[in-house]
Amino acid sequence: MAIQEILKMGSPSLLQKSELVNPREILGDKIQSIITDLKETMSAVNGAGLAAPQIGHNLQIVLFGFDHNPRYPEAPAIPMTVLINPHISVLSNVEEEGWEGCLSVPGIRAHVPRFKKIRYQGLDDKGEMIDRIVEGFHARVVQHECDHLNGKLFPMKVKDFSKFGYTSVLFPELESNAKK
Ligand code: NI
Repeated sequence: MAIQEILKMGSPSLLQKSELVNPREILGDKIQSIITDLKETMSAVNGAGLAAPQIGHNLQIVLFGFDHNPRYPEAPAIPMTVLINPHISVLSNVEEEGWEGCLSVPGIRAHVPRFKKIRYQGLDDKGEMIDRIVEGFHARVVQHECDHLNGKLFPMKVKDFSKFGYTSVLFPELESNAKK
């Protein structure tokens, strides 16, 4: 259990579909140590979210949440959540464009369209059901993280490449308080 290397765009394993976790194995050492690694790694780089494939495990486990995040200083708080075997239902076909980055795509930000309002379900790190209806940035983060489980990175979703660029140019103020 330790801070892990985060795989970067170009790594073939980021393009794979992740496998379901056997719910009976959630409390076991293997899954619990992956969850600990996700938490330690995300915290070390001030991430808003991190998916298991980003640290080399093609399993359907994502972590997200923060009170205040220096990478997204304007974003409202999201409860710290481990979500296993997630399922997303789109509750509004309205899509919203918003800025995203990714620890696997360091130094880049882009405008990405996401569904505004979703319901997500899955299991937490104790194997208990999670069932939430969310919108806005919370919905965006969940869609971004769950995309990792389908081998999708945010640049694949960009429609307007006039809003795609280097964080250091787009948001120079972030360079001082965030690593990426
Ligand atoms: Ni990401």
